[in-house]
This record gives sequence, structure tokens and C-alpha cells, in this order.
Amino acid sequence: MAQNPLAVPTVLEESEIQRLLLSGYASLPYGQIFLFTIHDSARFSDWLEQHSLDLSYGGPTAAHEHSRLNLAFTYAALELLGLPSTTLEQFPLEFQQGPLSPRRLRILGDTGSSSPSEWHWGGPDDPEVHLTLLLYAKDLTILEKREKELSFHTSGLKLIQKSPAHLDPEHKDHFGFKDGIVQPQLRERSPRGPAENILPSGEFILGYHNAREEYPASPSVQDRQDPDHNLPEHRATPGAKDFGCNGSFLVYRQLKQNVTEFWDFLENKAAELPEKEKDATWLAAKMVGRWPSGAPLTLSPDQDDPNQLEGPNDYFSYAEKDPDGLRCPFASHVRRSNPRDALYPNAALSTQFTRLHRIIRRGRPYTLGEEKGLNFLCFNADIANQFEFIQHDWMNNPKFADVLYDESDPISGYQDPKHPELTHNFSIPGKPLRTRVSGLPRFVDVRGSAYFFMPSRKALHFLISLQNRKTPQSAW
Ligand code: HEM
Repeated sequence: MAQNPLAVPTVLEESEIQRLLLSGYASLPYGQIFLFTIHDSARFSDWLEQHSLDLSYGGPTAAHEHSRLNLAFTYAALELLGLPSTTLEQFPLEFQQGPLSPRRLRILGDTGSSSPSEWHWGGPDDPEVHLTLLLYAKDLTILEKREKELSFHTSGLKLIQKSPAHLDPEHKDHFGFKDGIVQPQLRERSPRGPAENILPSGEFILGYHNAREEYPASPSVQDRQDPDHNLPEHRATPGAKDFGCNGSFLVYRQLKQNVTEFWDFLENKAAELPEKEKDATWLAAKMVGRWPSGAPLTLSPDQDDPNQLEGPNDYFSYAEKDPDGLRCPFASHVRRSNPRDALYPNAALSTQFTRLHRIIRRGRPYTLGEEKGLNFLCFNADIANQFEFIQHDWMNNPKFADVLYDESDPISGYQDPKHPELTHNFSIPGKPLRTRVSGLPRFVDVRGSAYFFMPSRKALHFLISLQNRKTPQSAW
């Protein structure tokens, strides 16, 4: 029987999807994130063709994987590499504009000590970011060897920055808290755990249905613009080819963590608390919403208990276990970045709503000289409705969860330098009285920011084929 090419896929085409989307490479703890400008696109295409086999896609894993490589392009790079203008204009506005545009800076709260003049890369006077290469390895020797083998000197690329991305043995961030615990499970890929945490793949990967049971917007290419038939049929636009299918948007933010300020501030504030058993670690855990081991405050409110940590299945209900935030404050980082079933008007609607605003996180810590921070990386199919929504509507918003009105996310929220009274507070609900911490400085500052598109295997071959063509784009 002939297969209907437009049938809604129920299984992920893993061998088409760059592997970082499907795996955090926990068995490859050493990493390097490269940022480049393409200064010679013809040379770059040759180099890319030569190294395209080095890239890692989903599918069966070799028994002993030693290293993995993935890549993603900014909008400026896709333009430079000759993607048809009719395709480029179908990319979402936020990807076209990039995080440096005044509108996106406002949305993300990248002002004051996080404004682009403070960034190490991606700022107005810096070279234009085109490409990120993400290299992961089992040990440092393999990492260095792989970097040499990539022979960047012949690539037509100019290095902007190289950031180490090594996992801590306990997967802790620089504040000392276990990170990367809860990740959405993909419906089209043998998901595990509670139904609330199982998401349709189209929330993160183009070419599959999303939580609205619709295809996320995916840029198409006209049939005649793909004479080599590199691209698959467009599932939502019959007759066209799909450039986006099996690709995803990658947000990269270099977030500097002010570790000494964080702990000094908490020591001072803890000293003011009447109960002596409530120390700086207790305050920090209230701000994160988890203890340093990762144990959630919702399940273990009084002390750290690693036994309470269930990994990706750690998807408990706030509405059921902690409706008043007495265990895990409404203002905590985890409750703001994913409120689950705790939002107005009820648990069912809140669960449905928060499903539209999830991300797959792939961040790893960095140390660059004296600076410590998080290479924040996340995947989503719709940057405006997912990453930007979380940062703007939940983390930066002084009004949140119907009970907060003058505070932002204590870990990575916006701090208004002009109106500190609006964002510098943190409330811990309690009975009979809440605890209020005020005068919070910004513990995390942005030091670089870019939006990338991570193409599928087929889309990458299509991009390479553009450089080999004789016909100028204007003749299409
Ligand atoms: C340096 C900055 C940041 C630090 C140190 C940090 C740290 C953490 C930690 C320790 C956790 C708890 C462990 C876990 O659930 O994985 C967490 C969870 C989370 N963070 Fe962050 N984070 C930072 C920035 C961000 C940003 C910028 C976003 C998105 C805009 C974000 C989104 C999330 C989400 C969605 C969760 C999972 C919440 C859940 O599903 O329960 N984080 N983060």
C-alpha cells in the first residue's frame, strides 16, 4: 500500500535529528562550545561537506562513544549561505531579529549589568555570530584531539569564542545545585514517567505535531529550488519541500554567575533570620526550589534528602502537595520556570497551559579565567512562546502566580536598575508569617546571547548543495 507522505508522524525520524536534541551526552562530560563568523562561505561549504560525516545524529549508539559533534546556524549565516529569500522570510521574527534587537532586549530584560555593552560576544561592536559548533568527549585528550582533527584553519571560519562546557561529576552548577534534572519526555520516542511531563515532539522539533496538535511553523522551499531532492515533502504545505523538518531552534546564553556575591548575600540574610537552623543553604534552596542534591523542596521541605530525587520522572504536583507554596515558594526558580499545575484558575488548565511553554535544557557550566557561569542552552520549536515566554512572563515578571507583585526570579530574573523596589525582593510563604528577603542584587549576568537553528541531516545537505550550484538565486 502506498504511504501517505502527509500522514502525521507517530515516530521520530531519529537518524535525521542532531543528537544533542535527543541526548545531553551525560557519558561525554567534557565539552567545548565554539562560536564562529563565516568569512569565506565557499571554503566553509567545502569544509562542511568534508566534515559532515563527523556530525552526530540520533539512532543506535555505538557501544563506546568517545565524542560527538553538533552544529547550528544563526539567521545571518543562513542568509550568507544562500538560503532562498522566500524561505528566509518564513522564519519566525524573533529568530530573524536575534536577541540583540531592542525589542528582544526588552523582552529578555537584558539591561543594566546584563546589557549588550557588557557582553563578551554577540554585542553591537562584536563580530557577527554565524555558527556554533558543540563538541563533546569522554576525556580532555579526546576533546583536544577532535578539535585538532576539525582543522578550523582550513574552514573559512573565524573563531569568536571557545567556551569550555564540562559537566561537574555531580552535575552541579557553580552555585552548588544539581542542574538538568527535569526534562520533557517526547511522545514520539518511548517516553517515561508521568503523563504531564510527556510532550508532543512538535514542541521542540519541527515536522511533528505540537501540544495544539498542529505543526509548528517550518520554513518551506519550492520544489524547483531543490533540484537534487535533498529535502522531504512539507507535511503542512503539500507540494512544497520542508527545510525545517527535524530541525529545532537553539538558544545560547552565556550567563555569568556571581558566586561570591550569592553566598555572601545569603550568609548575611540568614544571620538576620530568627530561627538559627535556617541558614544560607536553606535560603538558597528556597530560591532554587531544590536542595543542592537536587531533592525538591516540595517533597522534602525541611532538609536535603537525595532519596527524594527521581530524575526525569521527578514530575510531582504543586497543586496537590504544596498549593500555598509553604514548601517550595511561588517565587523560587523552579516554580517560576515551570509552574506545572499551580497556576490560576485550576490544576487542569494550568497543566494544559504550561505544556505550551516547556524547553529542553542542555546547559553546562563554564569557567573562563576568573569568570564562572552557565552555558545556558535550550531547544524549542517556538522561541517566542517557549524560551522568551519563560524568561519574560514567568521569570522577569514582577507579578506572578496571583500572589507576587514586586519580585522577579531570584536566580536568573530581571532586576530593574531604575525601579529596584519592583524586583529586588523574594518572599517565602510561612505560617503564621512569611519571610521577606529584600535588596537582592543580580546574581546572574548575561555575557553573550544568540539564537540558532539546528538543521536536520537533509537540511544540512541542502545548505551545502546551495554553494555547489551554478544558478544564481535570482534566477530561481
Ligand atoms: C545561571 C542561570 C541559571 C541557573 C544557575 C539555573 C539553575 C537551575 C537549577 C539548579 C534547577 C533545578 C534542577 C533542575 O530541575 O534541573 C533549574 C531548573 C530549571 N531551570 Fe534554571 N537556571 C538558570 C537559568 C535558567 C534560565 C535562563 C531558564 C529559562 C529561561 C531556566 C529554566 C529552567 C527550567 C525550565 C527548569 C526546570 C523546572 C522544572 O521543570 O521543574 N533556567 N535551573
